Amino acid sequence: MTSINFNELASKSIPKSIIMPTPAQDAKYIFSVTYTDPEAMELDDLAYSASNIIPKEGRDLATYPPTLGHEGLREFIANDLKANRGNIKLNQENIFLSSGAGGSIETLVDAFIDDGDVVMMEEFSYHGSLNMFLRKGAKPVHVKMDENGMDTQALEDEITKNINAGVKPKFIYTIPVYHNPTGVTLSQSRREEMIEISNKYNIPIIENESYADFLIDGEKLPPAMIGMDGGDNVFYISAYTKLLGCALRLGFTMFPEEARETLSRVGFGTSPSHLTSMVVNEYLRENKNRYVQGVAKSLENKRDAMLRSLETYFPSTCKWSAPSGGMIIWVELPKGCNTWDVYDKALARGVSYNPGQIFRADRAGENFLRLTYTHNSTEEITEGISILSEVFNEEGFFES
Ligand SMILES: Cc1ncc(COP(=O)(O)O)c(C=O)c1O
Repeated sequence: MTSINFNELASKSIPKSIIMPTPAQDAKYIFSVTYTDPEAMELDDLAYSASNIIPKEGRDLATYPPTLGHEGLREFIANDLKANRGNIKLNQENIFLSSGAGGSIETLVDAFIDDGDVVMMEEFSYHGSLNMFLRKGAKPVHVKMDENGMDTQALEDEITKNINAGVKPKFIYTIPVYHNPTGVTLSQSRREEMIEISNKYNIPIIENESYADFLIDGEKLPPAMIGMDGGDNVFYISAYTKLLGCALRLGFTMFPEEARETLSRVGFGTSPSHLTSMVVNEYLRENKNRYVQGVAKSLENKRDAMLRSLETYFPSTCKWSAPSGGMIIWVELPKGCNTWDVYDKALARGVSYNPGQIFRADRAGENFLRLTYTHNSTEEITEGISILSEVFNEEGFFES
């Protein structure tokens, strides 16, 4: 029997630009993935919620889940957003559940993006969603950022430039809280300006707040734009994967009523496991506020361990962020360093990270890297950063 060459069958529409570095599953020091903090997980409480809810709701598993997902969980989410993310008017009827925040983005891309569509996004942007846009043929426009998030003047300039060239951008896609990968939070005034721009040019915002539950020791977050806008032009995406367990794959979108018809044409995406939804609903109702504080404490120790290690092992020619929330430290090495070229050497020594290039459609940003501090213990973080500094030093990255 002749074997089939599946590479020859590969879809021609998958762009080469989304090639990624070697996966890091077997690395000892995983600084490349925003995994759930395993030490902060509360397995006994999760097990209790599961044993409580399955006798009550288990027979619902005999049928497919409702199109928008588990109603109780959607109600919890709506109330949680109203309590924590501002003056949000929409309710559970305007929420659909998804397989993680990634599933939500994929559903929006599926429903709205065509080949050639222009999407405005931050100067660097989470590679998972960037790649989803690229796979559908979108043309991302990276807008410069500073310590207050996306520069809204630059955003408007880029929008008008595109409109004058005959192309109206389809979306403004933003990660406004502890941005992935830079860690920056979009300020209150920039949020107001972004809403104004969205309304002025009629371009909807996708607000991906995947990190809103991860305040460590910073100021209270500014409210979400979906509440500031009245809910008309904003899609709000988040998830409980990073909080409770990445493998739970549970995310959601709050969507404007006007978008319902289009989203229903793609069936609101593929809903997540209903068993997961019922357990998470039961668990969060009982435990969320306390659990979030435990996660913050654990992340504070890990973040501090990574910052201390960078201070110890990296020279002053390198710069890095000091996040007050989230899971990420963004590092800038001197110009001329290429973090992707040396990645496999670091991986061979057990350390993974994300090269800066994967966060841009044009694969620029070679002297940046993203480090995450959630997965390893504080001791391992120190060891791993020390090894990484040796690898970079051997490459000549630290020579001044
Ligand atoms: C900004 C952002 N959005 C979405 C995702 C994907 O999240 P999930 O695991 O919930 O699909 C990530 C994961 O790193 C992320 O950082």
